[in-house]
Parts: sequence; C-alpha cells; structure tokens
Amino acid sequence: MERIRITGGRTLAGRVRPAAAKNSVLPLLAAGLLCEGPCVLRGVPDLADVDASLELLRAVGAQPERRGADILLPPSRPGGRIPTDIAGAMRASVFYLAPLLTRAGQVELPLPGGCRLGPRPIDIHLDGLATLGAQVDAGADRVTVRRAGLLQGADYTLRLPSVGATLTLLMAACCAQGDTTLRGAACEPEIADVAVFLRKCGARIEGAGTPVVRIRGMGGPLPGGADHDPVPDRIAAATYAAAVAVAGGQVTVEQCRPGHLAAFLRFLRAAGCEIAAGPTEFTVRRDPASPLWGGADLRTGAWPGFATDTAPLAAAVLLRARGDSRIHDALFQNRFACARGFAAMGARVRADGRDLSIRGVQTLHAATVTAPDLRGGAALIITALAARGTSVVQDAGHVRRGYQDLPGDLAALGARCAAGQTLSDVAKKNLLTVQMG
Ligand code: UD1
Repeated sequence: MERIRITGGRTLAGRVRPAAAKNSVLPLLAAGLLCEGPCVLRGVPDLADVDASLELLRAVGAQPERRGADILLPPSRPGGRIPTDIAGAMRASVFYLAPLLTRAGQVELPLPGGCRLGPRPIDIHLDGLATLGAQVDAGADRVTVRRAGLLQGADYTLRLPSVGATLTLLMAACCAQGDTTLRGAACEPEIADVAVFLRKCGARIEGAGTPVVRIRGMGGPLPGGADHDPVPDRIAAATYAAAVAVAGGQVTVEQCRPGHLAAFLRFLRAAGCEIAAGPTEFTVRRDPASPLWGGADLRTGAWPGFATDTAPLAAAVLLRARGDSRIHDALFQNRFACARGFAAMGARVRADGRDLSIRGVQTLHAATVTAPDLRGGAALIITALAARGTSVVQDAGHVRRGYQDLPGDLAALGARCAAGQTLSDVAKKNLLTVQMG
C-alpha cells in the first residue's frame, strides 16, 4: 500500500508546470488505433492509467513504445477482445470501444460497472453506436459491439453531455460512411484537443468543444498519423492552486491554460486569494496570516461549469474558511468520500450523497487517513499541508492514477511531503530480494 507523509505548516513558493492532461492522453492513446500512420504523443506523464492503457494496447495487438516522456504508436491491426483485468482496473478502457469496432469489426468489453464515485453507466456510448448502425449485445458482465459493414453517419442527440460518450461517438463517426451530427455534446477542452489530433490524422470535424459537432466520415481508418502535444492538465493546475490557497505562499503555475480552470480561479479569488492570470500561466498568492472566506455555494456541472474533479479540492480550501459552505456534485453520487479524512483532521463536514456541508474551523490537526479515490486523495494531501503535525495518507496509489508525482511537486514548492511505503511493503520487497538472490 502506497502512503504519503505530510508535515503541515510550511508555505509554498516557486514555479510548477502541469503535465499533459490525463483526460486527453487516455482517449488519445485509444484514438491512435484509428490511424494508418504513426503517431507520437509528447510529454505524457507516467501515470498508473497510462501504464494500464499501454498494457491494453499491447493486449489488442498494438506496439506502443515509451521513449522518455513521449509515447510512439506505430500503425497496427488491432483485434477486438479487451482483457477483463485491465477493463476492471481502468474506466478509460471504454475509449477502446469505437477504435476496436472500427478497425476489427467487433469488440468485447467487460462492463466497467460502478466505481468508487458511484455508478458509471455507458448507455449513451452504446445507444450512439447503435444509431450509427452497430449491433450491441449487452450481457450482465460484458458488452459485445459488432458492425456488419461500415458504420453509417447519423444525426444523434446525447441524452446528457457525457465526456466519454462524446469521444466514443466522435471517434466512431470519423471512420463511418457519411456525415454525422452530434448534438448535446460535451464541450470539455480535452474533447477539442482529441479533435485536433484526429484532424491532424486526416479526420474532418467541425465544432468540437461546442454542443454541436459535425463530422464528415472517411469511410475507413484515418489515412495519416500525428505528432501531438496534448493540452496541459487543468485539474493538476487547479490542484497546485488549491495547495497554495490552503498552505499560503506564492506559486506560479506555468505553461498551462488558465482559461481552462476559470471557474476554479474565480472560486479561489472569492475565497481570498490573489490571482494574476495571463494566457499561459497564472500566479496564486495568499498571505498565510489572512483568513480564507467561506460562504461558498458551489454546484458542479459540465464544462464550462465548476468541474466535478475540482470539488474535493475546493472543499479542502473551505475547511478553514470563515463561514459555512456547501458543495453539490451534480455528476457523481459519491464524490465526497474524502469527508471522512477531512473529519479525522478536525474539519466540521457532513457528506450526504452528492452534498457536502462545511463549517469552517480555525485549526486542523494531523491524522492518518485513507485516500478514497483520485481527487479525494489529492484533497486530503492538500488539507494536510495546513494541519498541525505529520499526517499520513494511506492508499495513495489512487493519487498516482492522475498525478505523476504530487508529493514531489509539492516538496519542490517547499512542502514537507514525501511518498513512502508501509512496513509490510518493505518486508515483502526484502523477502522477494532474498528469494531472488
Ligand atoms: C470524464 C473524465 C472524468 C470527469 C468526468 C466529468 C476522462 C478519462 N474522465 O469521465 O475525470 O470527472 O468526465 O467531467 O475523461 N453517464 C451516463 N451514461 C453514459 C455516460 C455517462 O449516464 O453513457 C453519466 C455519468 O454517470 C455521469 C455523467 O454522465 O453522471 C458524466 O459522465 P461522463 O462525462 O461520461 O464522465 P466520464 O467520461 O466517465
């Protein structure tokens, strides 16, 4: 079990650069399968979900290669069965539905099922593919999607703006025969980024990043390849900003797109942080002696609303703010599992399904807490930056799904924060060394 030790009380200073966005990189790795030319993705962080994606790509017959921070995707002829253990470990395996259906004619996906955030259905992905002419057989634990000939372009309205379903249908429509219009599409910056990549490979797409996306189908795989630098990770940028708000200090988040986290920066300003934003970097400043202001009433929503992934980070900022605050997560049922850890550190919080209420306290104290999920884990690490004493965040492997080295990044800004192993991990490793020796 991975764990992170954080000793609270230090302010942060310096510059930090977010890696490429996980939510672009994961669909881009799948989208590479649509291309007949070679692809390169630049600056890809070393994340657990990226490792799982590379494993999935190899399992379906592709030969991705990591060269430093870049990933090379040579053209391949993939086959359509996704191993159950990989699908179970990574929700992003759903991004392989459209590419494998397109290239292999059939794909079998063990159903991703629920996750720690609550149920994560894929009905819109499947309904949209069926509208393009695919035959969908959904069993209790797996789904098989086939096509008899080429998928056929169609006019399809998404029941809600799902990021994943928009990407699935965008990928499928690029290689279908005829034109497709997607209405009610999700508009997150990562969708526009995947569209930029697909266009470099030869796809014809207009309107990606808006609710109406028009795609002229190629009637087969995309003829080219692409050399692509994915967009910077806006959630990682928000995480660094939240860390400064909690710990105090002054940090510049560089080589990012501040406009991609405008809602979060507005929230931080209202909470009492000074923010100076330019086109490619922003600086967050907070005097640790001055109070944070609560009274927030936040509601997450699809882009350009307040991003659900930043809700636990906002909560971490509000725990010591003056006044009562509320956050409602409109997307996921169990977003606030981190509330238990907050409470263990002395916060006054109440999580009730999608709602979190916070009554600001003056001080927090160190505790041993457990990361319930990726963003909840990051929020607990940040909270510990301002708690008295040394906290331990257990099950920190969740955090590695979205950040290459969050403890290292925070330590470089001056925090006392380090990743470590449990005694049992060390014992297991020693045993292994003895056995191998
Ligand atoms: C993506 C992001 C995730 C982010 C989320 C919302 C990636 C790899 N992950 O996840 O970090 O938190 O967007 O911004 O990009 N839904 C259905 N049926 C479907 C699909 C979705 O009911 O077929 C529902 C979901 O249960 C959820 C909502 O739609 O309540 C939004 O989900 P979606 O946008 O699809 O999220 P993901 O693509 O899974």
